[in-house]
Amino acid sequence: MRLDKFIVAVGAGSRSQAKAMVKAKRLTVNGQIAKKADMKIDEETAVICLDGQVLDYSEFDYIMLNKPAGVISATEDAKDRTVLDLLPKRYHRVAPVGRLDKDTVGLLLLTNDGQLSHNLLSPKKHVDKCYQVTLEKNCSTEAVAQMAEGIELDDGYVCLPAKLEISEKNAHLVYLTIQEGKFHQVKRMFAALGNRVTHLKRLRMGSLILDEDLSEGDFRLLTASELATLKEHS
Ligand code: URA
Repeated sequence: MRLDKFIVAVGAGSRSQAKAMVKAKRLTVNGQIAKKADMKIDEETAVICLDGQVLDYSEFDYIMLNKPAGVISATEDAKDRTVLDLLPKRYHRVAPVGRLDKDTVGLLLLTNDGQLSHNLLSPKKHVDKCYQVTLEKNCSTEAVAQMAEGIELDDGYVCLPAKLEISEKNAHLVYLTIQEGKFHQVKRMFAALGNRVTHLKRLRMGSLILDEDLSEGDFRLLTASELATLKEHS
């Protein structure tokens, strides 16, 4: 990889800034002052320092975002703010793994690891997605069996069996685990039962659980163990 591309990849600056860093002798490669911005380096083994600080290179970023309402799960949009607008530029190579509606909040994984993204989204893999759902009306206990049998949506599609748990204290609040990701699926499943979703929050995707210390709009990188478990089970 070229040194200037490396600088861009780790988010340390643009290619023209990399050129200026070289000119100002701020960059070293394996302890030697870098002479050219387009010099070739081995990004896996070379020790690159900017002002004496080692720059870490990783091929992939894995980000957990607590998505707030009002932003869309895309990398660009002509009119709306996207989830990428919530991340620093250095992470703008990632894309959301699946979509949450504009008004849905909660767990959204973003990565540039296409293989992991593909595995988590593949319909064949039946990855669990668990949602906390607030409903307009009390949820009936019969809904538990109906969800387990497979709800028929407005277009005739019959959903895979889903697990519904009704909160003991409040029958407006339920937890639904589904293994698919059809358009507006959770909202349409409750609409098919004559109810309406008023608030939707994703809590879990596969083994990945939303970090409740993250406020809406906040993000953090996945820990090594979260990533290992996610890869293992996907
Ligand atoms: N189901 C929905 O209806 N909306 C979402 O954002 C996610 C699942």
